[in-house]
Amino acid sequence: MTSRAAVPALASRAVSVGASPVREILALTARPEVISFAGGLPAPELFDHQGLRAAYDQVLAEEPRRVLQYSTTEGDPALRAAVAARLGVRGLATDADDLLVTGGSQQGLTLVAAALLEPGDVVLVEDPTYLAALQSFGFAGARVLPVPSDEHGLDPAALADLVVAERPKLLYLVTNFQNPTGRTLPAERRRAVAEVAERHGLWIVEDDPYGDLRFEGEPQPWIASLEAAADRTVLLGSFSKIMAPGMRLGWLRAPAALRRACVIAKQAADLHTSTVDQAAAARYLADNDLDAHLARVRTAYHARRDALLAGLPDALPTGSRWNRPDGGMFLWVQLPQGHDATALLAEAVARDVAYVPGAPFFAGPPDPTALRMSFTTHTPDEIGEGLTRLAKVFR
Ligand SMILES: Cc1ncc(COP(=O)(O)O)c(C=O)c1O
Repeated sequence: MTSRAAVPALASRAVSVGASPVREILALTARPEVISFAGGLPAPELFDHQGLRAAYDQVLAEEPRRVLQYSTTEGDPALRAAVAARLGVRGLATDADDLLVTGGSQQGLTLVAAALLEPGDVVLVEDPTYLAALQSFGFAGARVLPVPSDEHGLDPAALADLVVAERPKLLYLVTNFQNPTGRTLPAERRRAVAEVAERHGLWIVEDDPYGDLRFEGEPQPWIASLEAAADRTVLLGSFSKIMAPGMRLGWLRAPAALRRACVIAKQAADLHTSTVDQAAAARYLADNDLDAHLARVRTAYHARRDALLAGLPDALPTGSRWNRPDGGMFLWVQLPQGHDATALLAEAVARDVAYVPGAPFFAGPPDPTALRMSFTTHTPDEIGEGLTRLAKVFR
């Protein structure tokens, strides 16, 4: 009998991302009776499935040989032109050639990490921050350090100190309705961050999948639009929260040299984003008013946020704190000291209600009292019922 030698081990970066107990508990929330404030999903009943179906039908009927074929890495010219036009209207002059279409903004993160980071490079993040960004930078071998943050987001003075002390290569930020906190970085902090990047030489990755979901207040300028940081900021965008996440469409706007490096990284990853999905999205944008669709989504999310805010005082223990985001999908709760949101989750799920504990989102020491609540996927009545169940857990 031939002897069978063991195969070589998995890469250490693959092993370090272990199973998570929270993920296992949240897997139980797929039961239909659970009212979940945990998911980061857009409301599926609001997808414009008829408009999207018509767009797919049309491109497949009219141009099957093109839309079923391989295409360029940079992406569908009509889709890039449409995104560039939307950015221009919002105050960021953009040429279609400034953009690379990505497989969601998640791929944008991976490409930027591949193009910029050597193992051991320092990446600065808000604390807490988007979990899968921590994973992307971790996979690239980066040393991820938290920048002290408060209820308005990242503290620019603390950023300046850390930049001097740690010589980071990039700063990752979610500037609008951040995941997980729902916070929006005020305009003056954006300017201060841009000036730190200008003074000390720093790349900024500005990830903005939620900015179009504003239902109150005034939009704040993208850091990418501020002169101090325009040549060193990558803006990531996504169709996931404004069209449909299953299409896996996003885009990356970056200065030329970095964009070219991202194009090469994307060639190695997947050659290009699905031709037919890009063509359908471009067709959808040409034939429909995305802003009219977004107005309907925002109206629904606004009412759902209000239902959540209205019920929180009676559902949470006395002394809890939470914020009131002007848009997006999430709000952030801090229970009184001594409460542990992770420990309480199993009890919540047993009562058919769920949230996400905040602890995994921290790059620094976690706040065990924190939790993230999403207000998008349930009606106001269901949100009310979910909060009645939560009150039994917390009270
Ligand atoms: C801050 C942030 N960035 C990126 C993503 C990834 O989105 P997608 O790849 O679907 O565009 C998400 C998804 O929830 C997110 O919250």
